[in-house]
Amino acid sequence: MCGIVGYIGKEDAKEILLQGLEKLEYRGYDSAGLALCNEKGITVIKEKGRIADLRGAVPLDIQATIGIGHTRWATHGVPNKENAHPHQSESGRFTLVHNGVIENYHLLQQTYLQQVQLKSETDTEVIVQLIEKFVKDGMPTEEAFRHTLRLVHGSYAIAMLDADEPETIFIAKNKSPLLLGVGKGFNVVASDAMAMRQVTDQFVELHDQEIVFVRKNEMMITTLDGTIIQRDPFTAEIDMSDIEKGTYPHYMMKEMDEQPGIIRKISQQYEDENGELTIDTAVLKAIMNADRLYIIAAGTSYHAGLIGKQYIEKMAGIPVEVHISSEFGYNLPLLSEKPLFLFITQSGETADSRQVLVKVKAMGYPTLTLTNVSGSTLSREADYTLLLHAGPEIAVASTKAYTAQLAVLAIIAYVTGKAQGKVQHFNLKKELAITANAIQTLVDAKETFEEIAHEFLATARNAFFLGRNLDFYVSLEGALKLKEISYIQAEGFAGGELKHGTIALIEEGTPIFALATQQAVALNIRGNVKEVVARGAHACIIAMEGVEEAEDRFILPHVHELLTPLISVIPLQLISYYAALQRGCDVDKPRNLAKSVTVE
Ligand code: G6P
Repeated sequence: MCGIVGYIGKEDAKEILLQGLEKLEYRGYDSAGLALCNEKGITVIKEKGRIADLRGAVPLDIQATIGIGHTRWATHGVPNKENAHPHQSESGRFTLVHNGVIENYHLLQQTYLQQVQLKSETDTEVIVQLIEKFVKDGMPTEEAFRHTLRLVHGSYAIAMLDADEPETIFIAKNKSPLLLGVGKGFNVVASDAMAMRQVTDQFVELHDQEIVFVRKNEMMITTLDGTIIQRDPFTAEIDMSDIEKGTYPHYMMKEMDEQPGIIRKISQQYEDENGELTIDTAVLKAIMNADRLYIIAAGTSYHAGLIGKQYIEKMAGIPVEVHISSEFGYNLPLLSEKPLFLFITQSGETADSRQVLVKVKAMGYPTLTLTNVSGSTLSREADYTLLLHAGPEIAVASTKAYTAQLAVLAIIAYVTGKAQGKVQHFNLKKELAITANAIQTLVDAKETFEEIAHEFLATARNAFFLGRNLDFYVSLEGALKLKEISYIQAEGFAGGELKHGTIALIEEGTPIFALATQQAVALNIRGNVKEVVARGAHACIIAMEGVEEAEDRFILPHVHELLTPLISVIPLQLISYYAALQRGCDVDKPRNLAKSVTVE
């Protein structure tokens, strides 16, 4: 979590840094700060709240050509001005921003900093105070920087200024993402390329345990022990219009609207020269070599994984297990003889998923990442990558990445099944085209979902999402959407399971959203709805054409039964959006959350 930026060059740094931080707000937005360095020294400005609050606090007349900035998602210490970054050493000589978690910060403080009065509750401050201590002990800054990083255990992306050496930004990276950006007469550093795309499209990757000395016209990358590393820049293929909101009121609405186009684009991206769906042959081989796939993911990506399992088992006949990444790494199940690990991660940066990748790689198992961000950590570190092609997703609540994940998982399953002669009489490309049109119909029906949100959720304190079979997995995602942006407590439930205890929570007016798209269980889910309606629940049934009944509140266009999750989730996304809006919530930046969770 947390976003970092740095600039060293000729222009006014503050505007470039503030714009960069605005792009990084998805990584955390509870407090923010800047350190600006000019001939008068280093000025630190910090504010609790959003980048807009920080912007308001930055004096307009301050000019500086060097600076670092930070947007925070609190881990150690509450979000307030004192705990906001940058942090300064006791004398004020060193100023530092950090993304990550220093696991042994308490021990380091006890061992080295008993005499130092810390100003914040953060793990970060220990790093900057340690560097000053070692400099006071006689080490040059560079050596003190290295020495400190050798003592530190944990994850970090760091940018530091030394008031006595103002022509350098000191950079370090371990486990947390950080990129260098190269310009003419300036250089920048940022947690991702989007943050600095307005000044350059040339970026240099950093690897774990690397240190960089960034100056106006050069940057020197070294390992922790000082070996110099040469690495060429790559061009970031980011279209600025992809990261702007345009005329939309929220990114979430823009991203929901992009879904039909993304499904069509995915179909084209995974097409061979004959127009047939295909995936990279090395990936296909790795999947076919495996006796079992282990899907590892968090949040919305985990929900996509649950549906991916159904696709792969049904179309390709390969057994699949789906695991929550934060649990898997610390509680390994018995593994099959030839497993393949499939990481599903929109950002490609989720620390919980990455720790599993590191572990299973060390065990010698093959790994595949399905991600939206090419060049992201999990993409670089896995043996294979498949991309979602969904374009940058900025709203914290994931929408288009989820449907893109489902589409690519369906393609993986289909191509593997075909290669094994297991898929017949089914043309996924055609079905995806029908699905894209159906999604378009749904995103065009926004007013209906606004009305449903008002009717069912205006005064709701809690809500249930019910489904069976594939609909059950979509109901988990529907509940997550509603929780994360409207703060209404919501639970996704298997229709038949509710009566085994949880039905005790149903009372007069409890809103229930039930999905009915699956022929085989259509009558069963309707029976489950009757059970809760008999106890006072207010039920909104969303059914698919072909299995609809008079009692339904909304009828989804017909799509292939396997692809129903791509369409049944759309009403749930839109209902959550409008419920959040009607409650005055910040739809794109819900409280307590961050989009890219780079701490375990
Ligand atoms: C965070 C986000 C969720 C996301 C999850 C996994 O919790 O708020 O929206 O689903 O991380 O992220 P990933 O980038 O790995 O898909």
